[in-house]
Amino acid sequence: MFGLYVHWPFCKSKCPYCDFNSHVRAQVDHGRWRAALLREMEETASRTGPRMLNSIFFGGGTPSLMEPETVAAVIETAKRLWQPAEDIEITLEANPTSVEAEKFRGFARGGVNRLSMGIQSLDDQVLTFLGREHSAHEAKGAIELARDTFDRYSFDLIYTRPGQSVAQWRDELDQALKLCGDHLSLYQLTIEPGTAFHTRHRLGEFEMPDEDLSAALYEETQSHLEARGMPAYEVSNHAIPGGESRHNLVYWRYQDYAGIGPGAHGRLTVDGMKRAEIRARLPEKWLGLVEEKGEALSELETIDEEQQFQEALLMGLRLKEGVPLDRLPVPQWNMLRNSGRIEALAAEELLTLTPEKLQVTEEGRHRLNAVLGYLVG
Ligand SMILES: C[S@@+](CC[C@H](N)C(=O)[O-])C[C@H]1O[C@@H](n2cnc3c(N)ncnc32)[C@H](O)[C@@H]1O
Ligand code: SF4
Repeated sequence: MFGLYVHWPFCKSKCPYCDFNSHVRAQVDHGRWRAALLREMEETASRTGPRMLNSIFFGGGTPSLMEPETVAAVIETAKRLWQPAEDIEITLEANPTSVEAEKFRGFARGGVNRLSMGIQSLDDQVLTFLGREHSAHEAKGAIELARDTFDRYSFDLIYTRPGQSVAQWRDELDQALKLCGDHLSLYQLTIEPGTAFHTRHRLGEFEMPDEDLSAALYEETQSHLEARGMPAYEVSNHAIPGGESRHNLVYWRYQDYAGIGPGAHGRLTVDGMKRAEIRARLPEKWLGLVEEKGEALSELETIDEEQQFQEALLMGLRLKEGVPLDRLPVPQWNMLRNSGRIEALAAEELLTLTPEKLQVTEEGRHRLNAVLGYLVG
């Protein structure tokens, strides 16, 4: 499997919780950006060689602020440079303001067949707290339009919010279940350094739910959605069977992907060696470098076996399906196998090992950072 990630780094405003590579600019020269994305993709293809392309993902930032012509041109060029799989998944992340919803049909005409919307909450007060530009009413309208326009759609909600109770969250989940397609992403709010929330939280403007409430909210999410046919297939992602995000599965299964646009990452196997690619992060720097040199690589390095082992575990253990042992480099696996750590985690019912695969339990997935820290830290 092989995927292409395309990063669009602009947003209308910066949400107070967000530490993604997203920037607010008064003006964007869409023609220059379109040309630069196409050019960087051509350069990247010269390194990947011919491949079957299974997915394209427009992420951000806010890709629904892109011109539909740009999205269509990127898709067309990608399909020319690589061989598109018959069932290629083409996802675009969208914010559900009405202005952006007006562009949905244009994106679909350009080839997008899956929409992933940042709904975040179905409650107006919470949307205000989260600094969002849309109302719950607009969000529902955008979801309905996505349902009529795309083969598949998903949306994101953020929970473990200040003042949130399990009962309130269950009601919101029930509303979401009525509106959702084949996929839902449910993220626990994290306070990231460098964000406005980080400062406001430190100043005591709001309090986050404590560990017990946070665990209760997580458990409720798992059991409520499992019982309604949308089990978690990854820590924060739920789908009806077959509705999983194929693009994200490429990352979690540690398969190859190329990334273009500011700050985009790639992992490419070339001549039997896995390589990491990272692009310049600042939009203006990226644009200048692509116009000057054809692409904006800030790092290109070979990933040694130790690093591959760590990355394959960090990614793969997020998935309910676990990590097949034949994905792991043998010397590093043997070392871990003989270290006693797997037995220790298995004794606490956080992990299971079969002759074929290593898997975290549901409890282990909830405490994934601690489990991973112990395994590969
Ligand atoms: C690349 S971001 C956003 C895409 C799009 N711009 C939007 O806002 O809808 C992907 C998702 O990450 C989640 N997210 C971002 N920062 C988060 C945080 N600090 N805690 C929890 N979820 C977060 C949000 O649900 C968001 O929709
Ligand atoms: S959450 Fe989305 S819209 Fe808000 S700043 Fe981050 S990327 Fe932009």
